[in-house]
Amino acid sequence: MAVAREAVAAYYRSQHGVALAADDLVLTSGTSEAYSFLFRLLCNAGDEVLIPAPGYPLFDFLADICDVKLVRFSLVYDHGWQIDFAALEAAATERTRAVIVVHPNNPTGHYVSSAQQQQLARFCRERGMALIADEVFLDFPLTENSAGSFVGATTALTFTLSGLSKICGMPQMKLAWLAVSGPEAEKREALARLEVIADAYLSVGTPVQWGTGALLAMRGAFQEQVRQRVRSNLCELDKQLAGRNVAARLACDGGWTAVLRVPAMQSDEALAIALLKEKSVLVHPGHFYDFARPGHLVVSLIVPEAEFAQGIARVLTHVND
Ligand SMILES: Cc1ncc(COP(=O)(O)O)c(C=O)c1O
Repeated sequence: MAVAREAVAAYYRSQHGVALAADDLVLTSGTSEAYSFLFRLLCNAGDEVLIPAPGYPLFDFLADICDVKLVRFSLVYDHGWQIDFAALEAAATERTRAVIVVHPNNPTGHYVSSAQQQQLARFCRERGMALIADEVFLDFPLTENSAGSFVGATTALTFTLSGLSKICGMPQMKLAWLAVSGPEAEKREALARLEVIADAYLSVGTPVQWGTGALLAMRGAFQEQVRQRVRSNLCELDKQLAGRNVAARLACDGGWTAVLRVPAMQSDEALAIALLKEKSVLVHPGHFYDFARPGHLVVSLIVPEAEFAQGIARVLTHVND
C-alpha cells in the first residue's frame, strides 16, 4: 500500500536525511523474507552470493531454502573490523550474483565506512553484481564511527533492507522492506520483477500497512531506551574487564551485541554450554557467527542492566578459574 511505503520514505527523510521515492520500496513480512525475494530475483539454482565472516547465522538457512550457494569473505580485525577487499576479490567467481553486507554488522558491530561503501559499489558495478545492505541496526550507533545508509546509492544495483523488527522493537508486527537504487534501467527492471514476486505471495498484512506511519512515529522512545541500555551495558562490561588480561572486548561501533575474546582452552561451544549449565548464563559461541578461530563469545547488550552486570561477572569468574 502506498500509505505504508510513504511512511517508510518519511522515516528515511527524517531519521537519515535521505530522499527515497515510495515507488522504490517493496514491502515484505520481514527482512528474512526480503532476502528470499532477492535470492529468487538475482539467482538461479547454484548461483553464489558473498557474505561476510563473522556474520549473521540465518543466512545459511535462507540461502539453502532458495538453492543459493553462500561463499564467505573474511573481515579483518585491526583496531576495528573492516572489509578485506583482497578476500572479497578472491571469493568472487563467475557465478557470484551479489555481495551482502550488514551495516552495522551482527555480531561485530562495525559500520561500512563511506569510503568502503564506494569501493564496494565499484567492485559490484565492475562485475555486474548486486549489492545487498542489511541495515536493521543502522539506528543504533555506539560511537562516532557510524556511517550513513546505502539507500539512494546509485553506482551499483543496490538493495537496502530494514524493518520494524529492530527500528521499533516490534518483530511481531511483521513489516520490513527493501529499497531499490542504482542505475535507472537496472533499478526499473528489478522493481518490475520484484513486484511479480511480491504479488505472488501478498504476505504483508493490511492492518500493519495502515499502521506503519503510527508505529514508526513511536520509534523515538524505544530507540532512546535501547541506546541508553546498550551504552550502559558496554560501560559495565569495560569496567569489569579493566585490569584483567584474561578476557577483552573487541571494538564495536553499533548494534546490540559485543564480542568477547576469551582464552581458547576449549571449543566456544563447550564454554557456552558450561556457562549455561554451571553459571546459568546464556551467551552465543563464536562459531555460530563463523569466527575464523575459537576464543570468541557473543553477548547481548539489550538485557536489563542488573542482569547484564551479574551475567558478565559470572562469565569472567568462570574464564578466570
Ligand atoms: C542482521 C539481521 N538481519 C535480519 C534480521 C531479521 O529481521 P526480521 O525480523 O526483519 O526478519 C536480524 C534479526 O536478528 C538480523 O540480526
